[in-house]
Amino acid sequence: MAFDKNLYDSIIKEFTVDKEQLQMIAADFRYDLKKGLVDPDESSLRMLKSYLGLPSGKEKGEYLALDFGGTNVRVLLIRLEGEGKFEVLKKVAKPLKVEGEYDYIGADSTAEQMFDLLAELIDEAIEGNHEQKYLLGHTFSFPSEQTDLNNARLIIWTKEFATPGVEGKVVNDLLLEALHRRGINNVQPAAVINDTVAVLLSAAYKQGGTYIGSIYATGHNTCYLEPYADSADKAMILNLESGGFMKLAPNRFDVAFDESSEKPGEQRLEKMVSGRYMGELFGMALSELLKEKGKAYGFTSIDMSGMLEDESQGRTKVQAIVKEKTGHELSAEEAEQVRDLAVTVVVRSARLVTASFVGIIWQLSGEGKVQKQHIAVDGSVYEKMPFVKENIMRALSELLGEEAAQVDTVLDNGGSGLGAALAAAMSVEN
Ligand code: GLC
Repeated sequence: MAFDKNLYDSIIKEFTVDKEQLQMIAADFRYDLKKGLVDPDESSLRMLKSYLGLPSGKEKGEYLALDFGGTNVRVLLIRLEGEGKFEVLKKVAKPLKVEGEYDYIGADSTAEQMFDLLAELIDEAIEGNHEQKYLLGHTFSFPSEQTDLNNARLIIWTKEFATPGVEGKVVNDLLLEALHRRGINNVQPAAVINDTVAVLLSAAYKQGGTYIGSIYATGHNTCYLEPYADSADKAMILNLESGGFMKLAPNRFDVAFDESSEKPGEQRLEKMVSGRYMGELFGMALSELLKEKGKAYGFTSIDMSGMLEDESQGRTKVQAIVKEKTGHELSAEEAEQVRDLAVTVVVRSARLVTASFVGIIWQLSGEGKVQKQHIAVDGSVYEKMPFVKENIMRALSELLGEEAAQVDTVLDNGGSGLGAALAAAMSVEN
């Protein structure tokens, strides 16, 4: 047995981005970038200021780093030793949501509950020491409007977060209040940065030639160092909130999924590419093939990874995953088609992400040659999802031709913590 051929082929086509479309997306991304620098209202990119350039490499000292960007929050105590060297002295973590126990990211929670959990975790990291002074760098991975390095106001929740009372607020004010409620007066929040900025700082601390930082995980976003070459302004990292890029051709699954999401109309690119959403899109398409249109099976990106890793004859792992999630027994032929569908969704994701990278590279190189550079990327999709890295390389070649040899992507694992510590150190340098 196989699936209905016409339906299957049309679904695959809807998730396929060819070279021409890819080129258009990269060009549109570059256009929005250019527009965003002079006339932000005309661009779908937010281009948020970080008030930071790249680290000098000389940063030293002990700093607290709060990494808050997903369900799992981490606090680290990091010793920077300069020249790319550092040591993690302490690391604690806690989820903001435990199924059946508590949920501080849902619409029924409060900002106090959320920030009290952060304060509790910070207390654990400093082992209850309320005397010694600490500077804290905060990687807060949501779109925030900054007026300086330490003052960041959350514009809007993304990644399906829904806690009331945080949007529109200065996040480090909420944090400071929570610290004070807990009797912690010796921890001073000194910097707020996006996780993309953290990845770029962390990678640039370790090696030169890195101007673009990206997260490819539950969420997706990219930042870059804007040189402000034509003005007297100092170079500054801009958080593009590229997950909000709009000039794309969403297919009917993208559209239907967006309508059912927490923030319809927002984060178009992110909803087409990131780990939080790929499994859902795949599940929607599969429900049509299984003649159960509209049924939500709850596929995650871990399931997608599992299916993509399945090299077996008859795709037995694909069969097992689909059986578990949908109750359907697939034939070997159907399992093959299902795996190809999963591959197609993932390949589209990698190609769209690459188009956004190339938009930035074109903007940075202007009329000149592409500079030799690394793009620093962190996140589970980039690190672990099969087919992603090679499809990024392939799409880079399609878009940049021979100049693709100038560019590579490098994994910067755990950059969120190190980047936060660096930002805290840079707050003193600045
Ligand atoms: C979402 C957030 C963005 C973050 C990204 C990766 O897109 O809006 O700020 O960088 O997720 O965590």
